[in-house]
Amino acid sequence: MLNVAAVRKLFPHTRKTAYFNTASNGPLATPAYQVMDAHYQTARMAGIGGQMELFDTLDRIRKNAATIFGCREDEAGFGFNTTFGINLAAFGLPLKPGDEVLLSDVEFPANVYPWLGLRQRGIKVTLLKNKNGCFDIDLFEQSITHRTRVLSLSFVQFFNGYKNDLTTLGKICRERNLFFVVDAIQGAGAEPMQVHKWNVDIAAAGCQKWMLSPQGTGIFYISDAMKKRMIAPWRSWLGVDWQCNWSNLLDFSRPFESSARQYELGTYPAAHVLALDWALTFINKLGVADIQAHNHGLLDRLIAYLENEPYYRITSCLDKKHRSSILTFATAHGDIKPLHQQLLKAGVVTAMREGSVRVAAHLFNNARDINRLIAVLKQAAKGA
Ligand SMILES: Cc1ncc(COP(=O)(O)O)c(C=O)c1O
Repeated sequence: MLNVAAVRKLFPHTRKTAYFNTASNGPLATPAYQVMDAHYQTARMAGIGGQMELFDTLDRIRKNAATIFGCREDEAGFGFNTTFGINLAAFGLPLKPGDEVLLSDVEFPANVYPWLGLRQRGIKVTLLKNKNGCFDIDLFEQSITHRTRVLSLSFVQFFNGYKNDLTTLGKICRERNLFFVVDAIQGAGAEPMQVHKWNVDIAAAGCQKWMLSPQGTGIFYISDAMKKRMIAPWRSWLGVDWQCNWSNLLDFSRPFESSARQYELGTYPAAHVLALDWALTFINKLGVADIQAHNHGLLDRLIAYLENEPYYRITSCLDKKHRSSILTFATAHGDIKPLHQQLLKAGVVTAMREGSVRVAAHLFNNARDINRLIAVLKQAAKGA
């Protein structure tokens, strides 16, 4: 169980707002801010030199990323956002003209546009029709042809919190010989992941949401087997092993790293990497399974209220298997803008997505935050 009172002390925003918008952007904890601040103070005094410690920090990040993905350390790397890992997949998988990629028609654009870029190379991209906002596994199975090579899908859908059944999907991908790519940003850090068990080939997650890190930080997973089949879409001078020895930079004979690190790109955003290191260590110390239990427990309270108030209609799937740390609901008369504004005025931050109010509960939220949200919902229902 989380010690939420202790956690809240690290997040100054909790003194003011009931923040339920981590699915857009996670807040930074004070220690994450402090390590960045200290770094910039040093940089301001020209104190940034070889930055050798940063390589240890990055090792720790890969280790923590591996814990979050449920993979081995050498299968996890630092990327800058989700888009980084999706592009690694789209342009690194061994695809040829005539091959087909399957996506859902309700994916976040970060998992669509990189694939659409493949059309220029003669690769067909098909968006499968959703069923009530959810991925339709039957349609997926029926749509696979001898040309189909890839399924790329979100772990958790951004606008309704639907957690996809990656066990079943991964099994189908394995049986039908498809590459399986996962956009994990809306789950990683809040919902346990088991990429090996799910037969995922590549997964990508920006860390700016549930991993409470600065924008411009991300992690990716690439399976060992996949690494061997990839045609690397890019190469970097930091993708080879220098053993922290910068005395022979004109030696171009160094082989690329065999780990996921071979796909990392050039000089790192050091301040952000330091904050990311703090945040991932923090999340893994709390444990993603406990974070999930906490988040779902808070949303249970909201569900109990919404189910008994006819003015509201839950638009998320409540099947346990498909629940996540995101819950969405709509109002009887459709327009959610006034309610969203009313919530904001009361210091309750949510998001509007596809006609629903989106509530994202995370480790710093407590029962008081949920009560504050419900109090506004009661007022709005009464006044409607
Ligand atoms: C499902 C999903 N994928 C990706 C992103 C963002 O992609 P990136 O981290 O590349 O900016 C978001 C939200 O911003 C998202 O909800």
